[in-house]
Amino acid sequence: MSTQVYLNGSFVAVEEAKISVTDRGFLFGDGVYEVIPVYGGYLFKLQHHLQRLRNSLQEIHMDNPHTYDEWKQILTRLTAQLGHSDQAVYLQVTRGCTDVRDHAWPADIEPTIYARTKLLTPPSSQQKRQGIHAVTLDDPRWQHCNIKAITLLANVLARHEAADAGAQEAIFIRDGLATEGAISNLFIVKDKLLITPPQSDSLLPGITREIVLELAKLNGIPYAEASISTADLRTADEIWMSSSTREVLPVLQLNGEPVGSGVAGEVWEKMNALYEACKQKLRKGEAVS
Ligand code: PDD
Repeated sequence: MSTQVYLNGSFVAVEEAKISVTDRGFLFGDGVYEVIPVYGGYLFKLQHHLQRLRNSLQEIHMDNPHTYDEWKQILTRLTAQLGHSDQAVYLQVTRGCTDVRDHAWPADIEPTIYARTKLLTPPSSQQKRQGIHAVTLDDPRWQHCNIKAITLLANVLARHEAADAGAQEAIFIRDGLATEGAISNLFIVKDKLLITPPQSDSLLPGITREIVLELAKLNGIPYAEASISTADLRTADEIWMSSSTREVLPVLQLNGEPVGSGVAGEVWEKMNALYEACKQKLRKGEAVS
């Protein structure tokens, strides 16, 4: 039996969940989204994700349609359908429907609110260790990459271009600096120092990025939020990409050249163990800070 999805106040079968062709998400990509991982039935870092959703909504001049408790209630009911499993929740809020297709929106518009959960099989440590290949691409995106907007055409094309080159991720270069991936944040390790670009409007404030920095801090792994040039990227000992569904993956080839020693690095091994321990704790229902 397939799970029900949440749409505008109701839980319905996915086949019955319909939105109007006048929805501004459909017409303009006018909306924002979140992807929230669930381990053993527990929502991971829900507060962080809902805070980022609030920020994204604020940036596009939309009111948050729900309080934290209401969101929690909706998402808890949604994920309970799949019991104590690992899942990924997709949540989207668009500005809603207008009969006239006008870029400007009316004041009285009602948002479209949608959420769905799916079983997630996170990569095992062994699979993660196999790593991924990445290519660098010029970043053609706009100035507000900190907003988790559903308007993802540039990311879609970049991911496609990476796939055409036999890679699983594209790393965006903006003004000579590596910022983030098409679907993930970027870390490098250089002389044992873990480095990720500082938050700015050139990249998404990834929740996994935040968790990695928190784990580094708590466990004495030296880290810095600093710019990464293309030369830094080329000479890095390790490169990692982080996201909610793929967690922290080592990049073993960049533009067809091996990264560092060509295998998952020792700092990645340490971080992966810490991340896995965090997930295990949550799966047992223990609080994860
Ligand atoms: N993407 N940067 C971009 C451009 C992303 O699309 C994502 C995640 C991230 C990592 O953010 P987080 O750690 O919060 O998942 C960074 C999601 C998973 C997606 O679009 O499916």
